[in-house]
Amino acid sequence: MSEIATLNLDGKSIQLPVTVGSENEKGIDISKLRAETGYITLDNGFGNTGACKSNITFIDGEKGILRYRGFSIEDLCENSSFVETAYLLIHDYLPSPDELAKFSALLTRYSMLHEDMRNFYSLFPRGAHPMNILGTMVNALSSFYPSVDANSMTDDIDVTAARLISKIRTIAAFSYKKSTGKPFVNPSRDASYCENFLNMMFWSPVNGYELDPEHVKAMNLLLILHADHEQNCSTSTVRLVGSSHANLYASISSGISALWGPLHGGANQAVLEMLERIYEEGGDIQKFIDMAKDKSNPFRLSGFGHRVYKNFDPRSKIIKDICRSILEKQAGQQPLLDIALRLEEAVLKDDYFASRKLYPNVDFYSGLIYKAMGFPVEMFTVLFAIGRMPGWIAHWKEMVNDPAARIGRPRQIYTGSTLRKYEPVSKR
Ligand code: CMC
Repeated sequence: MSEIATLNLDGKSIQLPVTVGSENEKGIDISKLRAETGYITLDNGFGNTGACKSNITFIDGEKGILRYRGFSIEDLCENSSFVETAYLLIHDYLPSPDELAKFSALLTRYSMLHEDMRNFYSLFPRGAHPMNILGTMVNALSSFYPSVDANSMTDDIDVTAARLISKIRTIAAFSYKKSTGKPFVNPSRDASYCENFLNMMFWSPVNGYELDPEHVKAMNLLLILHADHEQNCSTSTVRLVGSSHANLYASISSGISALWGPLHGGANQAVLEMLERIYEEGGDIQKFIDMAKDKSNPFRLSGFGHRVYKNFDPRSKIIKDICRSILEKQAGQQPLLDIALRLEEAVLKDDYFASRKLYPNVDFYSGLIYKAMGFPVEMFTVLFAIGRMPGWIAHWKEMVNDPAARIGRPRQIYTGSTLRKYEPVSKR
């Protein structure tokens, strides 16, 4: 017998079905509530609202668990590659050797940018933020590949996914080159996904670039760790925009805009800027902790807290280990790592943070690794976007194929003026 919740309202008893997920997560189905009672539910920031059922990613925020398609993030980081994980997210199974080889070949085939798209770069002002360039360029892909709409999507999923996953890397590297005034480096057919990206970013005709296998490995892990995170702000944006049957490129471009904000993916840039500020101001950690606790000050400790995790973010544990292993070998990076480690230790002992269950999140240590690899801070959120691409595609695909999907259209409780009479401007 399925569970039923009962709501007593205006003297009436309303029966609401309970939906149970595969990990025993429970949700009260209120889809008929307004029709039956005239009431809606109010939930600022959607902290209690499920917008869909999804098979893609499972998070248990209380226990610190993250799984893609049933595979733990620790297992995937230990054994998989970003390209394979992308395939898993999109298809719901690990590819056979042949499928993986075909998907990798598609990534190589679609890695170039249309020559006309290169012209766009010259139209951005010097100093344009690479996230801005990224969102614009991904949106522009819909003009170059107009056949991708809700109907053709399912037939073409590998081609479309490969185009996006591959091109975002090229667009990102070119936007960095543009910002530094250096020549673009084309993708190579002989390099892996991460090797190719690092090479496009850092190779130059005069200095060359030697790939460091440890950096390639770290890049691969970081991309896996960012690949999906169920209904976060940017993914919900992709789903919401896509629910109007906007094409995939337009939907993902909106997701990139959502990711840019400092409360979401932009936090990795904000963390590094905060650590540098603490260092420049003499390393007084307590001053910054006090500022974050002061309710009259809008300052927050970037890289701490999460809507879903009320325990350690499992991604931050893995990233901390990579961070230590990379930074301990690099001269000049230690002071910021020391500040980060001291800050984490002090925060974990502080009652304000403990009582609110605020732990380091995915963004806390990632920026330090990116900096050690040579990425400028403006590129940090772009790296998050490259990693999140398979998740956005998987969610868009799931939504397009879901017979229960409807256009996303939240309600509101109106609190503005009641009826007023228009007065001509001469009488006001
Ligand atoms: N520093 C100081 N206080 C904080 C912080 C923080 N980083 N995060 C939350 N709080 C406090 C907040 O002031 C509130 O206190 P009170 O109950 O006294 O009003 C309480 O903790 C709950 O915070 P909230 O804002 O209601 O929580 P939320 O779930 O709406 O927000 C968050 C989650 C991630 C936006 C927030 O923790 C935050 O702003 N963190 C800093 C930015 C950050 O690191 N973002 C990256 C998130 S992980 C990657 C991603 O999703 O992109």
